Amino acid sequence: MFGNLIAFLVLLALLVLFGWLTFRAWRIKRWLFKIPALLVTGMLTLVLVFVAFLAGKGLAAMYIVPAPVSDLTVASTPEQIARGEYLVNVACLSCHGANDGKEMPLTGGLDILAGEGEEDFSFAGSMVTANLTPGGVLADRSDGELFRAIRYGFGKNARLGMMSSLPYHELSDDDTHAIIAFLRSQEAVTSATNGGDNINLIGVILFLSGVLFPLPEIPAGVISAPAPGVTAEYGKYVATFGECRGCHGTDMTGTEATVISPAVPNPRIFVGAITREQFVQTMRTGVRFGGEAFPDLMPWENAARMTDDDLAALYAYLTAPVQ
Ligand code: HEC
Ligand code: HEC
Repeated sequence: MFGNLIAFLVLLALLVLFGWLTFRAWRIKRWLFKIPALLVTGMLTLVLVFVAFLAGKGLAAMYIVPAPVSDLTVASTPEQIARGEYLVNVACLSCHGANDGKEMPLTGGLDILAGEGEEDFSFAGSMVTANLTPGGVLADRSDGELFRAIRYGFGKNARLGMMSSLPYHELSDDDTHAIIAFLRSQEAVTSATNGGDNINLIGVILFLSGVLFPLPEIPAGVISAPAPGVTAEYGKYVATFGECRGCHGTDMTGTEATVISPAVPNPRIFVGAITREQFVQTMRTGVRFGGEAFPDLMPWENAARMTDDDLAALYAYLTAPVQ
């Protein structure tokens, strides 16, 4: 936090300096020098105003924590733990699992910003997945704090860079409680790092200022899930905890490429042309029915771990009118 505040102050100092240089350029008497000097200093000042504005907005989004912590205590019934285990396997394992998200236990340690070539964002800092066993961050978090992290994407003192962009603010209260119950029920495993963010000012501008993608709105009140069943409505909820809507767009009609992510296709076209059995086979094997295997970017393993009923609901959702 202090590093970012200092970087922000340096940015403001540069802004003042260039503002002053622009003023000086304005006062040059000879037009031959005045025009180019004014253009250069004026442009740089404008760029700095813009960058400082985005940085200020991003810093406010990062360090002002509006969501309060409730004094929640999850009952942790066997039913809750079983439901939580299912949801964690579908939704959280791929990032928080050991071995870069491949398997249990949930020891984390994966840096989401590190990658190869175009997928490497380490110039913006790091976002390392947390150890979600009682041997990691759980030891130091109340149930209310865990609820806030999952529902609102806020940690103890700051917005969680990655978590706040995931669709879990739409998870029901019951399912969020179930996840907390399961997390607490696991065996404690310690790891070299408990994870967390180290986002520099470039990252703050890119990910938190709202230039590239809007920050999610924080919902208020109790959230309940639609009744479970093989319906399009419940399928939409499955697409929420399955994280499909994060990439394919909130109504699953695809998204355009941005500076930090490639375009993602509308899956409804492909799914609309195959049967439910063929869809289940596609999601369980990672190979499109009658076609190519999914690339790494498409996390079909999340869906492969779903129950038959949830996959059927997902199929019903993707073949129903867009919602
Ligand atoms: C796309 C990867 C990804 C997925 C999926 C994901 N997480 Fe995270 N999680 C992170 C990262 C990265 C951090 C470190 C802070 C940050 O950048 O958000 C984190 C941090 C956390 C924390 C620590 C919060 C704190 O107070 O420090 C909790 C709790 C958490 N995640 C819970 C979950 C749960 C529960 C799920 C599944 C419902 C989940 N996460 C799914 C990437 C992910
Ligand atoms: C991290 C981003 C991401 C997430 C999350 C994601 N997808 Fe995808 N998905 C992709 C990309 C990228 C492709 C295109 C792959 C290709 O053909 O190159 C794709 C392709 C597909 C296709 C095939 C579309 C076609 O025309 O061939 C289907 C079906 C699909 N996704 C369904 C899902 C479902 C269901 C979920 C949730 C369980 C999901 N996706 C989650 C990124 C994602």
